[in-house]
Amino acid sequence: MVIACVNHKGGCSRTTTAVNLATSLAIGNEEYGIRRRKVLLVDMDPKGNVATTFGVDKRSVGPTMNELFARGVGDTSLKLSDCTLGPEVLTRSMRNAWRSHNPDKKRGPPKHISVRNLWVLPADLDLSGIEVDLATRVGRENRLKLALQEAMDQFDVIIIDTPASLGLLTVNALSAADCILIPIQAEFYALEGMGQLMGSIRDVQRSVNPRLKLFGILMTMVQSRSKLCETVTEQARKHFGDRVFETQIPRSVAIAESPLEGAPIVIAQKPSKSNPASQSYWEFAREADSRIGSING
Ligand SMILES: Nc1ncnc2c1ncn2[C@@H]1O[C@H](COP(=O)(O)OP(=O)(O)OP(=O)(O)O)[C@@H](O)[C@H]1O
Ligand SMILES: [Mg+2]
Repeated sequence: MVIACVNHKGGCSRTTTAVNLATSLAIGNEEYGIRRRKVLLVDMDPKGNVATTFGVDKRSVGPTMNELFARGVGDTSLKLSDCTLGPEVLTRSMRNAWRSHNPDKKRGPPKHISVRNLWVLPADLDLSGIEVDLATRVGRENRLKLALQEAMDQFDVIIIDTPASLGLLTVNALSAADCILIPIQAEFYALEGMGQLMGSIRDVQRSVNPRLKLFGILMTMVQSRSKLCETVTEQARKHFGDRVFETQIPRSVAIAESPLEGAPIVIAQKPSKSNPASQSYWEFAREADSRIGSING
């Protein structure tokens, strides 16, 4: 199953949500009843934030999404596996980031700072140039789908992070996806762009990808006891009914700081009452896991 994490509004937790969902589905969690899956996390945003969240130094990565994406039809000179960062690389860079963030802790990073079953396909800034270049080519909406063909049999779940626009990179993600996950920041203008987003989704459904479905809507950066957050959530529920996940992600300093520490919050902190941010992403993963199960039949 391919899930695209989409919302053209900037800073609404797209990357944070894509990274934490991919990570928790890959690690699995007995307590939450989430079984382990082999997951590929694809970055379609030229900002390249996905790799950074795992403490990966972008200058050190080899060929990226860019090379794979720019490939001509039928060009087999580069394989997907040449461009992905595997669980060992991700674990090593998270542990290195932990060490540089905690220079006085001599015992080194705790055991849980590690990941398995997760591969990242990173992006870098040149991807925006490729987007411009691609605009005049035949089959421009299907480049990502083509690039991911190899991955379809190798992974149980593929999650795609997208940029804050409805341009060609996002359209490529929508045409490669089975489902769309929309994170919405619980704030005043949040629902204003939704009509435009739904319009783009319908366009893609009509023209290139009729099987595209709505996976769900996740309310993010929710402030407790905020009347505004409650109102926005209520409106979202009115429009989208039970497509809105029960779980809400709270606004939390721990989530904002976790990229600095070089590990997604679901790895950095054990889910518990005293770590509500990690707990919320694990609860979301449990809901997502059961939706994947029901969609797959
Ligand atoms: N629940 C949260 N509480 C507090 N800060 C958060 C939360 N979720 C994300 N952030 C922070 O808000 C910023 C934007 O989040 P993120 O990068 O996930 O959003 P995005 O939609 O991918 O943004 P962009 O448009 O830049 O791609 C980041 O600095 C992130 O660390
Ligand atoms: Mg982002």
